[in-house]
Amino acid sequence: MPFSIGPYRFDAPLALAPMAGVTDRPFRQLCRRLGAAMTVSEMITSRPELRDSRKTRLRMNHDGEPGPIIVQIAGGIPEMMADAARYNVSRGAQVIDINMGCPAKKVCRVDAGSALLRDSKLVASILRAVTGAVDVPVTLKIRTGWARARRNALEIARIAEDCGIRALTIHGRTREDRFAGDAEYETIRRVKQAVQIPVIANGDIDSAKKARMVMDFTAADAIMVGRIAQRRPWIFGQIIRYLNTGLEPEEPSNAEKQHWLCSHIKNLVAFYGEHQGVRIARKHINWQLGQDDNYDIVRPLLMQAETAAQQLETIEAYFDQRFLESYDRAS
Ligand SMILES: Cc1cc2nc3c(=O)[nH]c(=O)nc-3n(C[C@H](O)[C@H](O)[C@H](O)COP(=O)(O)O)c2cc1C
Repeated sequence: MPFSIGPYRFDAPLALAPMAGVTDRPFRQLCRRLGAAMTVSEMITSRPELRDSRKTRLRMNHDGEPGPIIVQIAGGIPEMMADAARYNVSRGAQVIDINMGCPAKKVCRVDAGSALLRDSKLVASILRAVTGAVDVPVTLKIRTGWARARRNALEIARIAEDCGIRALTIHGRTREDRFAGDAEYETIRRVKQAVQIPVIANGDIDSAKKARMVMDFTAADAIMVGRIAQRRPWIFGQIIRYLNTGLEPEEPSNAEKQHWLCSHIKNLVAFYGEHQGVRIARKHINWQLGQDDNYDIVRPLLMQAETAAQQLETIEAYFDQRFLESYDRAS
């Protein structure tokens, strides 16, 4: 079930959602290894004065990533967005994704992200400016609308298609919903029926069975998975297996989980340097091990570790049960 965006063909209809502060290069690489066919960078501001900040430079680093390199840009001024698109293409972006889905106050305050969905004329101006500025495919990510009473995804989807957008991702919530309540897929289904461009369904897909259900219900060309991947990055492999075979997804072994987590920590440190890498690793350790019954015992050691070597050693002991055995003996 491959799907395509412009000239780019993806082996599976499965994407990792862009998540600022989460889907940095090491995490995207991990998810690609575990089965995500498509990944998108964290959003990059269109404001040129921030281009040289360390944060933006790291967000624009795609060294060694498998293509196509998809870079998401955010902003509300058409010319600035066009300029940001050109700049990112000159730095290696092969697809530009426009963020009109983010509900974050920081983004919406400056009339970007999902705030733009209020103003369909401005949406059209931004989309025309960006598609006119670059030769690479331009894609768009939206919510179902600005408010529950104004679900205008259908209107925006038609505008997007008219403006030359090559694929549309829809998160099944409005901006007003933020992350509350359940995502709904009826709007996505209606959009898919109304446009010819590929539609990617997103929101609350947290298992292989849910992935199948959303694909079937919406008839979307692909699905995009966000928050659950923080806790279970191996969900991509489970979804692919289930979509391809209908077989129950298998839980990875502890040895596999340990290997993925440890190699991710090493990659974080190689990317950010030891000081920042260890701190970012703490978030991932918490996300991935936080649900385990025994995690609280080992958590303080992992959160206080100042070096990757300490984190890796503790994780190894934790998975080996050595840590738990010595804890049992001492208590
Ligand atoms: C921490 C966090 C950061 C996010 N950052 C972005 C972003 O930069 N750009 C974007 O389009 N969406 C962003 N999103 C929204 C996700 O891409 C996705 O649409 C949303 O989480 C719903 O999918 P899920 O239910 O699978 O998580 C973010 C979501 C989270 C939780």
